Amino acid sequence: MSFQIAIDGPAGAGKSTIAKEVARRLQYVYIDTGAMYRAMGLYFAGCGIDLDSEEEIGRACGGAEITIRHVDGRQQVYLNGENVTEQVRTEKAGMLASKTSAYPEVRRKLVQLQQEMARIQDVVMDGRDIGTAVLPEAPLKIYLTASVETRARRRFLELEAKGSPADLAEIEADIEKRDYQDMHREMSPLRQAEDAVYLDSSDMTVEEVVDEILKLRRQSE
Ligand code: DC
Repeated sequence: MSFQIAIDGPAGAGKSTIAKEVARRLQYVYIDTGAMYRAMGLYFAGCGIDLDSEEEIGRACGGAEITIRHVDGRQQVYLNGENVTEQVRTEKAGMLASKTSAYPEVRRKLVQLQQEMARIQDVVMDGRDIGTAVLPEAPLKIYLTASVETRARRRFLELEAKGSPADLAEIEADIEKRDYQDMHREMSPLRQAEDAVYLDSSDMTVEEVVDEILKLRRQSE
């Protein structure tokens, strides 16, 4: 049987950095479900359909084929055969994903794909609903969060390092908006699963968080 570690939490809590490192140390496959929603968001925007229409979104869903591959342990996302791994990382793709991931048809499609991937291999999967909806039976669940200020500062430094200076107040406002959307949608809103371990990374280093999760993994033997 495969082992699953589910990591959920708000945007910018460090989930992907942490999940990637935990997966590397355990030699599990890391699955970034946000990238899948981002690819779907890009697809809908590219189709030029009305993003406020559940009906149009539902109809368009069937036209998007999302495929995940791993190259040297790194996840690659394909949308209808095109590698969109870089494209999905933009703020625009994040907002599109936050909006369109609220639609049941979008979630049904991706959740099915995610469950299939977790069935065939050991995974560390991160997202918003992994512990609550995708893998409710996962033996180890983490709810990883950090204060809005910390998350905005981390994102600011990340963008600065990439050579794309940003406005801290704007990032903070974006994060708050995204939190609200993710936590208040009807279907699978972001929330901590009852059996998830709560970790606030505001005052923790990446290494400390990773060590804590590896310790929890050992305890779950
Ligand atoms: O983790 P991320 O920033 O790449 O996610 C982008 C958006 O996708 C996020 O705002 C909400 C949505 N999402 C989701 O609804 N469920 C998931 N399992 C992962 C992401």
